[in-house]
Amino acid sequence: MSPTLVETGLPPADTGRLTHLLTEFAGHSETTHGVTRLAYTPLERAAHRMFTDELSALGLRTWTDAAGNSYAEIAGGRPAPAIGTGSHLDSVPNAGRFDGIAGVVAAMEVARILVESDTQHTHPIRFVAFAGEEGARFGQACTGSRIAAGLLDSPDLADLRDTRGVSVADAMRSVGLDPDRVAEARWSTDDWAAFVELHIEQGNVLEAQAIPVGIVDLISGSTRLRIDLHGRASHTGGTPMHQRADAMTAAAEITLLAEDIATDARHHGTRATVGRLELEPGSITTIPGTARLYVDIRDVDSDRQRLTAVELMDGARSICERRGLTLEIETLGDTSPVVLPVWLRRKIADVCTTTGTRYRVLPSGASHDSQMINKVVPAGMIFVPSRNGLSHVPDEWTSVEDLAVGTDLLARSLLALDRELASGTTVETTC
Ligand code: GLV
Ligand code: MN
Ligand code: MN
Repeated sequence: MSPTLVETGLPPADTGRLTHLLTEFAGHSETTHGVTRLAYTPLERAAHRMFTDELSALGLRTWTDAAGNSYAEIAGGRPAPAIGTGSHLDSVPNAGRFDGIAGVVAAMEVARILVESDTQHTHPIRFVAFAGEEGARFGQACTGSRIAAGLLDSPDLADLRDTRGVSVADAMRSVGLDPDRVAEARWSTDDWAAFVELHIEQGNVLEAQAIPVGIVDLISGSTRLRIDLHGRASHTGGTPMHQRADAMTAAAEITLLAEDIATDARHHGTRATVGRLELEPGSITTIPGTARLYVDIRDVDSDRQRLTAVELMDGARSICERRGLTLEIETLGDTSPVVLPVWLRRKIADVCTTTGTRYRVLPSGASHDSQMINKVVPAGMIFVPSRNGLSHVPDEWTSVEDLAVGTDLLARSLLALDRELASGTTVETTC
């Protein structure tokens, strides 16, 4: 054990245990090449049951709310408010095994460390697995945490649909959840004091600088659009080039326009992506009559994010007019960037300093549950390195040693917050 760990009186995270949990969660997957565990599916629920089963076996009280978020609690000296940690258990299609899961597994290991070391704390400590974080299925991300933050309610759940037309509400019903009661899943500000989420970086800043942990200052927002282009399907041989209304070539031009706008100097830092393209009728011998594009625009600057979307929509209209197509645009999701509270970031940084853990402050390009949760409880985020910066792909990887460093920091940060908030000496909690 390192001198620092002896000093703080906690045993270190167990890499064997972290590996075991990561492997077990990865087994709940539709695919064998990469993990596929979409929001509000039986596989996601099975992963949630594994979370609550493991933690109740450790002696924790566990429960699941109406949104499908799962919880486990170690009682504190006072009944409330709680200090929380956790992340999500769903994945995008053909994902890796770390996005979200790393934070849940770290939380579970912290629970084990606290129980086995019989560490006393004033606040209850809650471990959370959020449901439906990935926007991959329904377009909008963070369903469970949005509900917890009071940003999404029952009527919204009937409107959001996956590509097969299944609404979030119906998907919830199909796995035994009740979408009409999600208001009961809302977190109360009296019940929560602080929340810290560990997550993989999903970029390569930490790896490139050989720094073991990141402390997140900003979380990018995202605007997601579905653009339907209606041209004219007809014979690829019989139709002269000048008589076409080809939905595919219009889609290609719009995709390049998104890239142009995002790489323009005025948009430095914007990311715009067409991640999915569907063509009809989809035959090698027929000019595509319709195209559907899914666009994801991310930014840490909310004005620039929205301006990018407006520029792209205007440009798409001009392209369609020139090419003789019509179009419809629907906004699938629109989430603002979030600045995480400075005092909480400083607290985590102080723990890094005390334990000799090198860190850097960095923004998050991805969305996170903490982005929503921060609306009702001050939230902080710890990043651990992603090998080659890869994420949302089967090759996503974080070494278990790096995850253990982040887990140790997480455990100590939760206890440091417990001490500081219990002493009443905290700080400008408004910034
Ligand atoms: C969440 O994983 C995102 O796509 O940012
Ligand atoms: Mn994630
Ligand atoms: Mn993700």
